[in-house]
Amino acid sequence: MDSLDNISKDVFNCKRCGLYKERTNPVLGAGSPEAKIIFIGEAPGANEDMRGIPFCGAAGRVLDRLLEKAGIGREDIYITNILKCRPPENRNPREEEIKACAVYLERQIAIIKPRIICCLGNFAASYIMRKFGLEDKIEGISKIHGKIFSAQTLFDSIKIVPFYHPAVATYNANMMNILEKDFEVLKKC
Ligand code: URA
Ligand code: SF4
Repeated sequence: MDSLDNISKDVFNCKRCGLYKERTNPVLGAGSPEAKIIFIGEAPGANEDMRGIPFCGAAGRVLDRLLEKAGIGREDIYITNILKCRPPENRNPREEEIKACAVYLERQIAIIKPRIICCLGNFAASYIMRKFGLEDKIEGISKIHGKIFSAQTLFDSIKIVPFYHPAVATYNANMMNILEKDFEVLKKC
């Protein structure tokens, strides 16, 4: 049977895209394997690459504050990213990198079986909405942030909620208010 440990080993040895060449550490994810909520960001940044832990830098501090305000602890959720290795200079993920790396996210989702998938930013939202048959609802994050979408898996009905990426609040203070308000929808789910 597959496990997060197995995926961790595979990611450690992965050369499916060019990003392995410049990474220090791959970042698989962190949190509870039994979590009902999974958060999916974009890709590791410099701090994450150094420590191998997702959202452990400035964007992570924003995320921690949002979670706290929503009454959710990091230990209650699982956090990961679309890409497991850091793109140089934090550039955007490329289509072929997302395609290459998605096998790991798919395996994580299959193991964790979350009821709610929170997408942080455009890349995660587009990938997840397409995967769960919501491609006709995909729009820019400024249109769909904070909305709850329903989707059906083989076993369950799940909720998908896109948010702005928490990093936006590190350079635009108004975004914190929007993010805080959006995170309140998690109380409703
Ligand atoms: N931004 C992300 O999308 N993920 C991280 O882990 C850190 C910053
Ligand atoms: Fe492999 Fe993903 Fe890292 Fe690319 S980003 S090398 S696919 S683990």
